[in-house]
Amino acid sequence: MSAKRLALLVPGGRGQLGRELARSAVPLVHAPGSGELDLRDAAEVGDAVGSFAETALDNDLRPVVVNAAAYTAVDAAESDADAARSINVDGAAALARACAARRVPLVHMSTDYVFSGDADVPYEPDDPAEPRTVYGRTKLDGERAVLSAGARACVVRTAWVYGAGGQNFVRTMSRLERERDSLSVVDDQVGAPTWTGDLAAGVVQLAGSFAERRDPQRPVLHCTNAGRTSWFSFARAVFAELGADPERVQPCSTEEFPRPAPRPAHSVLSGRAWAAAGLTPLRDWRSALTAAFETDGAALRR
Ligand SMILES: NC(=O)c1ccc[n+]([C@@H]2O[C@H](COP(=O)([O-])OP(=O)(O)OC[C@H]3O[C@@H](n4cnc5c(N)ncnc54)[C@H](OP(=O)(O)O)[C@@H]3O)[C@@H](O)[C@H]2O)c1
Repeated sequence: MSAKRLALLVPGGRGQLGRELARSAVPLVHAPGSGELDLRDAAEVGDAVGSFAETALDNDLRPVVVNAAAYTAVDAAESDADAARSINVDGAAALARACAARRVPLVHMSTDYVFSGDADVPYEPDDPAEPRTVYGRTKLDGERAVLSAGARACVVRTAWVYGAGGQNFVRTMSRLERERDSLSVVDDQVGAPTWTGDLAAGVVQLAGSFAERRDPQRPVLHCTNAGRTSWFSFARAVFAELGADPERVQPCSTEEFPRPAPRPAHSVLSGRAWAAAGLTPLRDWRSALTAAFETDGAALRR
C-alpha cells in the first residue's frame, strides 16, 4: 500500500527516527516527545493509543504505532539500569498492551546490541541473542515483552543510526573536523551506518503492510543500510562528504578507547528476512551517506 491511507503514532517523536517519521509523506503523523507522551505512564499511553486510533479511523485512515522511544544512552545505562528498564522494558510493554487492547498494529524498534558482537557473518533475526550491556539486555527484554503482549507487532532491529534530528556519529565527526587537525577512530568494530531517511522509509513501508493486513510472517526483522564498514572508514567517508582530507582520520583499536559499556565488535545485521517479507532493501550505506548530506547537509554539519 502506499502511505496514502496510513496514520502513525510515534512515541519518541523528538528522537532521531521520530523526527524523520514526523516529516514522512504519511497523511497523519502524531509524533509526541516524552514531555507529551511518557511511556512510563501506562494510563497516559492507553489514552493516547485510544484517541489516536479513533482520530485515524474517523479520517478513514489506518492506524499503526511505531515505537521510536527508548533509553538510548548506552554508557549511562550501565549505572542507571532501572531507568533504562522503565522505558525499554516496562514502557514498551505498556505500549504493546495498549495496542493489543485497541487492535492497533505496533512496529517496535530495537538494536544490534541484543547480540554479543562475536560473530563474523551478518546476524539473522533468529540468531541467539546474548547482550553484553545493560542497554542491550533491556532492549532484548523489551522485544520479548512486546511480542508476548498479544498485539499484532513486529520488532525491527537496526544499527549505527544517524540523521539530521539528533546527536550521532556523523555530527560528532563534523564537529571534530572543525575542532581538530587529526583524530583517531576505532577500526576494529564493524557495522552498517544507517541513515534515518532510509530507515524511516522502510518503517513506513512495513507499517503500510500491517495496515493492509499483510503482516510480516516473522516477529523480528532487521533493517539497516546495506554493506559494512568500520567506524574509522565511516569517519573518513564523513570527512570526504565534508570536503575535508580523510587522511586526517587515523585508525586505532577499541582497547585504546575503553568505554563503560563494551561495544559489539561485529554489528552487521542481515537484511535477508526483510527482503523475504517483500520489503525494499535499503541502499548501500555509502550512497546513503551522500544522500543524507544532499538532503540534510546543513544539519549534519552543525
Ligand atoms: N541511535 C542508534 O544508533 C540506534 C541503533 C540501533 C537501534 N536504535 C533504536 O532505534 C530506536 C530509535 O533510536 P533513536 O536513535 O531515534 O533514539 P533517540 O534519538 O535517542 O530518541 C529516543 C527518544 O526516546 C524518547 N524517550 C526517552 N524516554 C522516554 C519516555 N519515558 N517516554 C517517551 N519517550 C521517551 C526521548 O525523548 P526525550 O529526549 O524527549 O526524553 C528521545 O527523543 C530506539 O529503539 C533505539 O534503541 C538506535
